[in-house]
Amino acid sequence: MTTTSARPGTGVARERARRAEIPAKTLRTDRWWLPPLVTVIGLTTWLAYAVTRTFIHKWYFVEEYNWLTPFYSPCVTDRCPPEAAHFGTWLPSAWFLPEAAFSLPFLLLFRLTCYYYRKAYYRSFWLSPPACAVPDGHRTYGGETRFPLIFQNAHRYAFYAAVVISLINTYDAAVAMSSPEGFGFGLGNVILWVNVIMLWAYTLSCHSCRHIIGGRLKHFSRHPVRYRLWTGVSRLNTRHMELAWITLGTLALTDFYIMAVAAGWFGDLRFVN
Ligand code: FES
Repeated sequence: MTTTSARPGTGVARERARRAEIPAKTLRTDRWWLPPLVTVIGLTTWLAYAVTRTFIHKWYFVEEYNWLTPFYSPCVTDRCPPEAAHFGTWLPSAWFLPEAAFSLPFLLLFRLTCYYYRKAYYRSFWLSPPACAVPDGHRTYGGETRFPLIFQNAHRYAFYAAVVISLINTYDAAVAMSSPEGFGFGLGNVILWVNVIMLWAYTLSCHSCRHIIGGRLKHFSRHPVRYRLWTGVSRLNTRHMELAWITLGTLALTDFYIMAVAAGWFGDLRFVN
């Protein structure tokens, strides 16, 4: 991201001096405000749901089928039933501690510093700027080269944590293929696997992942395997925005389905056992 503060003598200041003074804030007549508005509504709704679910501390595990919602994985507090605590219960059960206190901070960091989400919340929440050819809501823009936004550069490290957490989610989906009779499979398992596949697609489509796989190479011809991987990741990368939204949807749907079955609102549609 570039720094464009309007210090005297900088390109931005010179550019402003050359521009015609137009009293209207913008000459755009289309509904440029719609995408930022939809983003604010979408992200706020999702956050409200996620925070509520995280601190409810119940209806997160279906013992009969070994289903654990991704919002509570890995389950590491004293409250977790032994069947759900595959990684130990080494945290006390205080109300303010989420069951997934180990993974949630990293997931939050991964999403908050994601290149797509940055663009989304800079434009919609901070109006910086809200759309092309619409003035910035702020007088200056300091960029991401100084405090506090310099911490956005932690994204590449959050990526490694997200890979580990995606592996844990994959493990959860695998151990969830069970029933009181042994092996079992139902609609809930389809939802869990779709969520895991989408999470991998989002994680691997990350710009940092693309750089890790194909960056710092002078000749792709000497690294054919990395070139093929980079080509695949680049293809996924073009869908990063869609995957960012799809995974918010699959996460919420997976959690809601498991909550509904755990609370007894309805039963699972079983295909096998
Ligand atoms: S850029 Fe979005 S997850 Fe890395």
